[in-house]
Amino acid sequence: MKVLVIGGGGREHALVWKIAQSPLVKKIYAVPGNAGISKFAECVEIEAGDIREIADFAEREGIDITVVGPEAPLVEGIADEFERRKLKIFGPNKAAARIEGSKVFAKGLMKKYSIPTAEYEVFDDYEKALRYLEKCHTPIVIKAEGLAAGKGVLVARTREEAQKAVKAMMKDGIFGEAGRRVVVEEFLEGREVTVMAFCDGKTAKLMESSRDYKRAFDGDEGPNTGGMGAVSPAHYLSRDVEEYVRENIIRKTLEAMEKEGAPFRGVLYAGLMLTEKGPKVLEFNCRFGDPETQSVLPRLNTDLVDIIIKVLEGRLSEVDIQWKEEKAVCVVLASGGYPATFERGKEISGIDAAEEEGAFVFHAGTALKDGKLVTAGGRALGVTALGTTQEEARDRAYRAASKISFEGMHYRKDIGSE
Ligand code: AMP
Ligand code: GLY
Repeated sequence: MKVLVIGGGGREHALVWKIAQSPLVKKIYAVPGNAGISKFAECVEIEAGDIREIADFAEREGIDITVVGPEAPLVEGIADEFERRKLKIFGPNKAAARIEGSKVFAKGLMKKYSIPTAEYEVFDDYEKALRYLEKCHTPIVIKAEGLAAGKGVLVARTREEAQKAVKAMMKDGIFGEAGRRVVVEEFLEGREVTVMAFCDGKTAKLMESSRDYKRAFDGDEGPNTGGMGAVSPAHYLSRDVEEYVRENIIRKTLEAMEKEGAPFRGVLYAGLMLTEKGPKVLEFNCRFGDPETQSVLPRLNTDLVDIIIKVLEGRLSEVDIQWKEEKAVCVVLASGGYPATFERGKEISGIDAAEEEGAFVFHAGTALKDGKLVTAGGRALGVTALGTTQEEARDRAYRAASKISFEGMHYRKDIGSE
């Protein structure tokens, strides 16, 4: 079987690494892939956003299954294009991907079907939004309606901050059309957890839980990033609460999507806040999370390709998904300057030594230049280790990370420390 993976980050490296272990797979292609992915897959230089060209490629090469990493092509309708051509693709169609692509759609769905989430208001009109902010309590959360590359959410501590964010999004257009409409949302307190589920439209099977570390610096300080690390499982998610999430969030959402005429097939990602009043949805994504996937997939025993096939056949209920008891910790190694303007092209050394420590080194932003491995992204590598306890996994991940170096490299020292 020939499999094509779309994307070129750490999540996609983890996917390709896992897919390569399947006895069902003969050849893997990646669009565009990266230096790490190229060990398992033939990397093809097509832009991840160029839907037609990717579909042409899949047709020409006789790809059996395409697996989509990032949200943008899903929200733009890559699955619809593939389905029109009778090509198999793992990921929701455009209508179902609205659960991530439109915050107004996602919030409306949750309200209509009583899926627990923060209270909210939607604004198209800048003046009305400002008037509303005058009487609201702080902190308050301002969210751009559409996709904003993970930067469209601001937790405003003061009214002034909230007003500035609304102005930047609605008037100055910092996110273009994606921010002309905003959601103003109640601030929720608690611990965050990520729950992802394989979905075939009717059945959902939860993956093991995880959490990511979004802030740049230790102790959750500093600016937001694409994720500086992840652990799986999130030990503070009790089995009871997980059961509640399965029934009242994931299953209910899947039913709701079906009732709305947009059955969800692929990976449903729920970012949750565990509040005093129970878990509430912060956001839905229509794909695997990054870096969470780099901590979750190394714990998966079952053949991922078999799960994907069952999803595509609408027979997910028949699969028994098995997980390792071991815990996983993933530490992201970032480029100098990240998450602001960062450096590229720095030579990376020590990956073999890190792997000798028993870690998996997933490439997120790397490239080969004149035969040398160099950095090519803000987040360069994800170093994942397993252990009997989270502490053991963490020690191993950090020991492995310490073997790797490149100029300007920095990483958080507290991933998985509580
Ligand atoms: P997102 O980009 O949607 O993942 O949101 C980024 C982060 O903003 C989340 O991981 C939360 O830490 C925070 N956040 C989003 N919505 C809320 C909320 N209603 N209350 C508190 N924090 C939130
Ligand atoms: N880790 C957050 C995300 O994948 O959106």
